[in-house]
Amino acid sequence: MLIQCVAMVPALAVIYLLAAFHFPVTYLTAALVQGALAALITYKWDLAPWWRPIQFLFPVAVLAALGLHLPSWLFLLLFLLLLGLYWSTFRTQVPYYPSNPVVWDAVRQLLPVDRPLHLIDIGSGLGGLTLYLARQRPDARCTGIELAPLPFLYSWLRAKLVRSPARFKLGDYERLDFAEYDMVFAYLSPAAMGALWRKAAAEMRPGSMLISYEFIVDPATAGRMPDHAIDATEGGPALYVWYF
Ligand SMILES: C[S@@+](CC[C@H](N)C(=O)[O-])C[C@H]1O[C@@H](n2cnc3c(N)ncnc32)[C@H](O)[C@@H]1O
Repeated sequence: MLIQCVAMVPALAVIYLLAAFHFPVTYLTAALVQGALAALITYKWDLAPWWRPIQFLFPVAVLAALGLHLPSWLFLLLFLLLLGLYWSTFRTQVPYYPSNPVVWDAVRQLLPVDRPLHLIDIGSGLGGLTLYLARQRPDARCTGIELAPLPFLYSWLRAKLVRSPARFKLGDYERLDFAEYDMVFAYLSPAAMGALWRKAAAEMRPGSMLISYEFIVDPATAGRMPDHAIDATEGGPALYVWYF
């Protein structure tokens, strides 16, 4: 958005220049000029290449959306829904996308059965894994922590409705003490793995385990390979397990 705002100044200059030379300036011309300049700034500011087509097409998409004459409250509603779902993804670089019941069961099979456990899904999304583990392991304390308010609210309500003993917290897992847990499950993103490893290595107790779905910690950062890499689904991403 900042880049689009910055691009508006040179875009206005270009549009006035085009008009001065009697070039027919329509809203579409203006949107294309604005998009091209925003894409150029994106390139100059060295953002990831996939931002360039997004920046180029954004003003045209705005124009097309205006053409649909949708009520303005719909934009606010969509914005609030997306805000509630993605919240601070711009900072964490971990958006919401769910794992599935096959993965949840593979996690269950990795858990020791000889003692009561305290389990946590850090970034619990809609709460699927936490509720599943609470159902399958009534002897375990199952917690989910989620930063985004909408998925948190959904999982908290689900737990209340099905009378699950699973607990859901709204908050940042970086503020937790991992020493409280026997198993920490993470389905995050490559950007989060380095910091997650440093926290886990500093805080997790001997005998506890860290499980990451799909994303490995770079062995150069961790100084070791995962103890297990398990294919929960055929051809799908692996579950990585580290014991402390
Ligand atoms: C890829 S989803 C995984 C959802 C769920 N664990 C599952 O397996 O279906 C990652 C979730 O982590 C949440 N998240 C990202 N950073 C977080 C943080 N620092 N603290 C708590 N939750 C976070 C995101 O909002 C998102 O819902």
